[in-house]
Amino acid sequence: MTSTVFAHLLQVVDGAAPEDGGSSFWMPPQVSTVAHSVDWLFNLILAISVVFFLLIVVLMVVFVLRYRHREGQSAKASPSHNTALEITWTGIPVVLVIVIFVFGFKGFLDMSTPPANAYEILVEGQKWNWSFTYPNGYVDPNLHVPVDRPVRLVMSSQDVIHSLYVPAFRIKMDVVPGRYSKAWFEATEPGEYDLFCAEYCGTGHSNMIAHVVVHPVGEFETWLEKASNFLDTMTPVEAGQKLFQVRGCQQCHSVDGSGKTGPSLLGVYGHNQILSDGTSVVADENYIRESILEPQARVVAGFDPVMPTYQGRLSDDEIVAIIAYLKSLDGTSGGE
Ligand code: CUA
Repeated sequence: MTSTVFAHLLQVVDGAAPEDGGSSFWMPPQVSTVAHSVDWLFNLILAISVVFFLLIVVLMVVFVLRYRHREGQSAKASPSHNTALEITWTGIPVVLVIVIFVFGFKGFLDMSTPPANAYEILVEGQKWNWSFTYPNGYVDPNLHVPVDRPVRLVMSSQDVIHSLYVPAFRIKMDVVPGRYSKAWFEATEPGEYDLFCAEYCGTGHSNMIAHVVVHPVGEFETWLEKASNFLDTMTPVEAGQKLFQVRGCQQCHSVDGSGKTGPSLLGVYGHNQILSDGTSVVADENYIRESILEPQARVVAGFDPVMPTYQGRLSDDEIVAIIAYLKSLDGTSGGE
C-alpha cells in the first residue's frame, strides 16, 4: 500500500508534462539540462517526507487512542527488545539516505563540472545590481546566452555576499567578495527568465533582479555584436544613459531630484555642490570624472562615502558619454 501511495505521490509532484516546459503549479519551467534531475530528486525527498510524516502521525494517533488509559486496567511491562522491528526501522532509513546521497552527489558533480567548451561570461555583483561581461569586453545588465550551449559563469562581488539564482535553470551560487565562484548551465529553451539575488545584501536586495535572455540558435552572436557597438551607434547622451543604467549608477543616484543612497544627479552639472568638509565645488567635467574614479575624494555633504570606485571599470570614452548624459539632465523639466 505504501509503495502505491509513494508511486502516486511521485507522479503527482513530478507529473509535469515535457511539452509545457516542465513547469508545475509550484515550480518554474525546466529550462536547463540539469533542471529535470534537480526537480526529480527534490520530489523524491518530498515524497519520502510526506509518506513518513503520514505514517508516523497516523500511527501516533492510532496508538494514542488504542492504548489510552482505561478504568480498571493497569499498564503491562513493555518488551525490552524487538530485533526484527529495530533492524527494519534502521535499515529502511539507511537505504533511503544512501539513495538520496547517491543521486544528490551525482547531481552535485554534474553541476560543478562545466564542459571544457563552455562559453565563459564574467559576473559581477554589487549593491544592488548585476553586470555581465562578455568575452569581447561588453558589459550588460542582463545575462544573454545562446540556447543549447554550455555557459560557464565566473562570478565575483564588489562588496558583500550576493547569490546568483536562476530558478528556471535550477542553479544558485553564492557570489563572494575576494574570490571567484563558478556556476554553469546549458539552457534548453529560448525565452526570457528571471535572475535573482538570493542572499540578503542590504536595503536594495529585493531589487537586485536581472533577466536571462536565452537566444535562439545563431541569434546570440548577432545580439552581442550589435549590443557591443553601442558607443558607436548611439549619441553620447544615449550611450551615457545606457551606461548609467547598466553600470549600476541608477541604483544609488536618481535623475529626478529624489534622494537615494547618493545625491540625485538632476541639474548637478555646472552647479555648486556643498561638500562634506564644508567647502564647495562646481560640478564640472573634472569633478564628475573624479567622482567616478575616486568617489571618496570629495563627497557631497549629507551623504556617506560609500560609492565604489569605477577605476579600471569604465573606459575614457564611457566616462565622456556619462558626462554628456549628466549634462543633459539640466533640471529644466523638474525641480533643482
Ligand atoms: Cu545582492 Cu541580495
